[in-house]
Amino acid sequence: NRQPILAIDGPAGAGKSTVTRQVAERLNLLFLDTGAMYRAVTWLVLESGIDIEDEPAVAELVHQCQIELVPQKDPLGILINGRDVTAEIRSSQVTANVSAIAAQPVVRQCLVEQQQAYGRTGGVVAEGRDIGTYVFPDAELKIFLTASVKERSQRRQLELQQKGLADISLEQIEQEIAERDHKDSTRSIAPLRKAPDAIEIQTDGLTIEQVTEQIIRLYHQKT
Ligand code: C5P
Repeated sequence: NRQPILAIDGPAGAGKSTVTRQVAERLNLLFLDTGAMYRAVTWLVLESGIDIEDEPAVAELVHQCQIELVPQKDPLGILINGRDVTAEIRSSQVTANVSAIAAQPVVRQCLVEQQQAYGRTGGVVAEGRDIGTYVFPDAELKIFLTASVKERSQRRQLELQQKGLADISLEQIEQEIAERDHKDSTRSIAPLRKAPDAIEIQTDGLTIEQVTEQIIRLYHQKT
């Protein structure tokens, strides 16, 4: 007897965060950015100086850590062990290492449990890679957002430029995105995959508003 859950999955840079935030605001749902949680753990691992491949050490760290989400902030705020890492988790160093951390079974198990706790009463829009397939397989609406690598790289470059980080070439961004997609879709546990009952939206050439509208329409149809 819970409120509806909306699951939004897709590869890196498909516009999930921006769209999900707007959908959450318009439908008055809690915005659950699961990528931010994997990023926060990655930040902590890098900060603590342990080897990212040292799975037992990573396991200990993730079990002891406490993550808090502050969904009211834009971008979504996140704290790990009381420290605000909202900006730090977007660094290129975290981005380059997050897929290796997210592939570790203990990390996933620990974070998925927390994500499912947020969803217990429903009223949530969650975005990530495995939300429709694994975290909330019974979500009322599942969306799979995609875009070509070219389009996703261009969007990411624009985003970086707006943050004053214009020194990364489009080729480099494309390569990083393709590499992360590959790692995320080939890992053995809960890989990036479209759920059979997910609705795919190909967003090349669409504005954020158009995609948001489309999702809101589908949500009203399904709930
Ligand atoms: O969405 P975002 O780019 O912030 O996600 C960062 C990384 O976290 C992804 O590349 C993926 O490795 C991992 N992730 C995941 N499962 C999720 C969300 C993110 O493995 N549900």
